[in-house]
Amino acid sequence: MTEDKNSDMQWILRRFPNGKNLESSKAMFSMPTARLANRFHRQIPGYRMTALESLPNLASMLGVGGIWVKDEAQRLELNSFKVMGGAFAIFRFIQKKLGLSDDKVSYDYLVSEDCKKRLGTITFASATDGNHGRGVAWAAKKLGHDCVIYVHSETTPARINAIRSYGATVHIVAGNYDDAVRQIEVDAARNGWQIISDTSWPGYEEIPTWIMQGYNSILIEAQEQFSGQGIIKPTHVFVQAGVGALACSVIGFYHMLFGQDAPKCIVVEPDMADCLFQSALANDGKPHDITGGLHTIMAGLACGEPSPIAWNVLKDTADAFMKVPDYVAARGMRILATPLKGDPMVISGESGAVPLGALYSLLTEPGCEELTDFLGINSESQILFINTEGNTDPMAFRQIIWDGSNPVPRRYWTTR
Ligand SMILES: Cc1ncc(COP(=O)(O)O)c(C=O)c1O
Repeated sequence: MTEDKNSDMQWILRRFPNGKNLESSKAMFSMPTARLANRFHRQIPGYRMTALESLPNLASMLGVGGIWVKDEAQRLELNSFKVMGGAFAIFRFIQKKLGLSDDKVSYDYLVSEDCKKRLGTITFASATDGNHGRGVAWAAKKLGHDCVIYVHSETTPARINAIRSYGATVHIVAGNYDDAVRQIEVDAARNGWQIISDTSWPGYEEIPTWIMQGYNSILIEAQEQFSGQGIIKPTHVFVQAGVGALACSVIGFYHMLFGQDAPKCIVVEPDMADCLFQSALANDGKPHDITGGLHTIMAGLACGEPSPIAWNVLKDTADAFMKVPDYVAARGMRILATPLKGDPMVISGESGAVPLGALYSLLTEPGCEELTDFLGINSESQILFINTEGNTDPMAFRQIIWDGSNPVPRRYWTTR
């Protein structure tokens, strides 16, 4: 590990002298399942591919070949990618419960009277830091079921109201996200609710696996869009992580598809919620929890306990783990919202923008050459980011973009 004396960011470089072990990514992800998820998503009314935005002027300013942002803020009406997992998991759950084969079950059938009669009303439940709960509430409402969502005490009213707007009951739990996860596990067992959680724990792995397979649909779209640009694959992917389910889905997908030739994959976490970084640092192959308030502006990434099944893939495939201060996320938001002339504007929230903020900071702050050299970032690089959310907390968004909260420390100001 290297703790750089200049930048406030930290990273762990992973070397795989004998190649990566791809067993875990291949066991979890496959093209047929990714295509099935995509086929299901395409049937949802209002579905359209989200844009893969190109920022050529920023790329040339930073000296890289291409910067690509898959803009999940446009996903359905939900302002975040999360519904791609929750909706697919609910689809899989109902399919299994009713014993329906892949070709028999369709979105139309899930919303049909016959399906409802056979299932009765189910109460879907989940803990969330905002976006996942919103996606589950949305899907439950569309399919005519009930929904209970647990949030932690620091969840902002904007996030709670967004979940309530889809008819879900929201409970506020004392403590952090991980406390909300533990509480809903107990209450769901007591009340007969069906948990749709994006994180896993021993004995609860099937649904979180479906959620990660559902996120693959985003990469199916991205690969189609890259093909249209004559690009076979990105050379690098910077992906943000809370419990690690999205990172596992993205990194696992690319390793399933391209094996040892997968893009270089970098996991980015807040320095105040760095459970995957700490797991990599421990270097014993096991996930490690961190505790405490997890105080970060990156609400979607404020998780202290890795999802064990996600970690299992990440430990064998991620090329680097980074942890970064909040100003890096705020910087990423400002770069995306006020683009260079000719580049598109992307509205991105704190958790959505942090990987781009991390790349910009890596390429402009002193002392980061070790990581950029290790990753081989150069004028040929085609770098993929997923803008996982738009302005899901509009007040916080304005405070950062308009009022300048979470400023970049003066020593790291742009000088070129
Ligand atoms: C906007 C956003 N980005 C990224 C993530 C990270 O996902 P994961 O917890 O699967 O690592 C989340 C999780 O809630 C999120 O809300």
